[in-house]
Amino acid sequence: MPEIRPVTKENWKELIKLKVSDDQKHFVASNLYSIAEAQFGDDIPGEGHWDMFPYGIYDEGKPVGFLMVSYNYDFARFQGFILRLMVDESVQGKGYGKFGMNWMLEKYRADERVQVVGISYEPDNDVARKLYASLGFQETGEIVDGEALALLKLR
Ligand SMILES: CC(C)(COP(=O)(O)OP(=O)(O)OC[C@H]1O[C@@H](n2cnc3c(N)ncnc32)[C@H](O)[C@@H]1OP(=O)(O)O)[C@@H](O)C(=O)NCCC(=O)NCCS
Repeated sequence: MPEIRPVTKENWKELIKLKVSDDQKHFVASNLYSIAEAQFGDDIPGEGHWDMFPYGIYDEGKPVGFLMVSYNYDFARFQGFILRLMVDESVQGKGYGKFGMNWMLEKYRADERVQVVGISYEPDNDVARKLYASLGFQETGEIVDGEALALLKLR
């Protein structure tokens, strides 16, 4: 059974070694970039401040993937945003991505301050689109920074 662990001073160096294939690189930022970004969060005009929390996906003690959730309880439209999800190219297609998504959604479901969760992906990322749609995300039709925006209403 896979498990999720927070990024710490002990494990960040093994998590930045995880990589997607060359043709997937434009779909997702590097884990090194994401871990750096999470130190500060982001202030988005019209939305306010997003806090970011990075995690590793592990199986049998080994790192297999990476994910990052973010929160902005003051934003009326969506209060949770799934910022990152990647599975190492050597172990894709084994259910780790779906496991990570379900873990994030459970985390958001357990937080009453989160009513709606957002996610975005490049329009040609068919694997991601189908995975998110299977979990209930609906595209809004907007393209934000080149990515399709999809939302899931939790409550
Ligand atoms: C998208 C990603 C995280 C999915 O993780 P994964 O562990 O490979 O996916 P899973 O094994 O959990 O499979 C999820 C679903 O996608 C399908 N799938 C996975 N890889 C696939 C592939 N190469 N082609 C077609 N379908 C695929 C699975 O069959 C499964 O569907 P099902 O539930 O109907 O069986 C992973 O492929 C990845 O890291 N891609 C590159 C980075 C990226 O695009 N991240 C998302 C940015 S928005």
